[in-house]
Amino acid sequence: MSTIQNVEKDITKVVKDLGYEIDKVNLVPSGRRELGEFQINDAFSLAKANHTNPREIAEKIVAELKKDARFENLNIAGAGFINLSFSESFYLEFLKEIQKDIKNNIDLEPTKKIIIDYGGANVAKILHVGHLRSANIGEALKRLTRLLGMEVIGDVHLGDSGLQAGMVVSEMMERYPDLPCFKENYQGESFLLPITSEDLSEIYPEASKKAKEDENKMKLAQEITYQIQKGHLGYCTLWNQVKELSLIEIKKIYSDLNTTFELWEGELDSFQYIPGMLEYLKDKNLLEISEGATIMDIKKETDKKEMPPIILVTSNGASVYATTDLATIVGRMKRFSPDEIWYLADNRQELHFEQVFRASKKSNITTDETKLEFIGFGTMNGPDGKPFKTRDGGVMTLRDLINLVNEETRKRLNPMITDEEEQKEISKMIAIAALKYADFLPFRTTDYIFEPSKFADLEGKTGPYLLYSTIRMKSLLKKAKNEGYETYEIKKLKNETDKEVLESLLTMPKVLKKAYDTKSLNDIAEFLYKITSTYNKFYSENHILTSKDEELKTSWLALTDSVYKTNLLLLDILGIEVPEKM
Ligand code: ARG
Repeated sequence: MSTIQNVEKDITKVVKDLGYEIDKVNLVPSGRRELGEFQINDAFSLAKANHTNPREIAEKIVAELKKDARFENLNIAGAGFINLSFSESFYLEFLKEIQKDIKNNIDLEPTKKIIIDYGGANVAKILHVGHLRSANIGEALKRLTRLLGMEVIGDVHLGDSGLQAGMVVSEMMERYPDLPCFKENYQGESFLLPITSEDLSEIYPEASKKAKEDENKMKLAQEITYQIQKGHLGYCTLWNQVKELSLIEIKKIYSDLNTTFELWEGELDSFQYIPGMLEYLKDKNLLEISEGATIMDIKKETDKKEMPPIILVTSNGASVYATTDLATIVGRMKRFSPDEIWYLADNRQELHFEQVFRASKKSNITTDETKLEFIGFGTMNGPDGKPFKTRDGGVMTLRDLINLVNEETRKRLNPMITDEEEQKEISKMIAIAALKYADFLPFRTTDYIFEPSKFADLEGKTGPYLLYSTIRMKSLLKKAKNEGYETYEIKKLKNETDKEVLESLLTMPKVLKKAYDTKSLNDIAEFLYKITSTYNKFYSENHILTSKDEELKTSWLALTDSVYKTNLLLLDILGIEVPEKM
């Protein structure tokens, strides 16, 4: 158990022993440090529940806490806010504890099995900034929940069964009519795909344009999509090859973003469950036919808003987005019986997921206990506040965006780094840090503006600032090691900024818990900035390595080491790698 949770537990016991009912006392960083670094505000809710005044309760609590040597400076402000500080020996003990293992500053949550559905790249289409957010947030949540003790499976859930399949295949048919897969008597013989990745990036937009302009082409694309869904040998073989080709770039981008998946499945993998699922829903009398389509009513009596039925089979017999998502749940339940499934997608997909979740609950495809959760996110916009565009006004692909940030970080690279390969590698790492950190700073559901030059800067609340500072901590520890300091005795503090750093570290378990509860990384991002900038203030105020006071010096090295390890741990949650130098 973390130190802060331990203290909270003890204070909770004090309050309970005084005869009050309370779940858990909450120790929060104080808004007015001069009154004490932490405060307890629970006297207010206790007073309300016990029909008395908060101050009276606060006084009783304070009288008890005064007997505890860990606390100092206990006082009551206003109508019943309890303020307190911790003693130096408390902080030294805390530092010893986290020096043993930085993970002593993490509180595990009850273990669950969670599937996180994120990434969501669409085969043969470009990845755009929406996919960036899904990958970033999904990957970070996966790393966080794993650290907190969950069993987590990440699934990229590729978009591979939609209309783009039919469009691309029909365009290929037009361009390469002689491909064996288009022959009447095709038996599955292998053949070489006559296109490159580059061709592919131009084929889908072209095919989509044609289909929009020409009704017959649209019909053909729909028909081919339907055939692919039904397993047509020729079309499926071609589409699978296109998928392989498309996956090369998709995998490269995810790898650049330090994103990894346990499952590389897609919508098409759910088709094996569709017939059985439809049968099951029919047997339960849940399906209706409306204008030729098969639908399911999912309204509830308590609904205040319009809730359209979920469409499972279109009038042409095709499956759609909701069909594959529901069938994917069938498969996931059968194979993994997860406690929870989380879905990362743009805020605008909320209704879709609400429909799928309702259908899944209503039909008992999932149990009452299975938690299905939509984790929506806002849009990343360009400096003009509108969706990101390239300089010539085109759509900004995720690759363009990474390159754009890379240009900015390259400009700011340390001139001492002269090796071309090294320059490339380091500036890319910094660019990813810049991009990711900017993406985590706002609360997940908020839209935000990404300014490449601002977030690539070494100063301010940026990824590069965090990297630079973390590398500096590392190099300080290395210098100390060269002087013979391997482990650090923890003896004393100066009780100024060094204590402030420890105060901050003490609250880390709460930050992680909040991120887990809200499924947003913004508090972790803020915390990283806070701990780093407080440490940097301490660093500039004190000459750690040249300190004549040996006891202070070793304690400060321990402090540095703890902040360094904390930063590594949190940056790793965010999927940000730290270069050796920059
Ligand atoms: N492919 C979808 C898109 O690009 C995202 C997939 C989200 N996950 C899901 N199970 N529907 O919008």
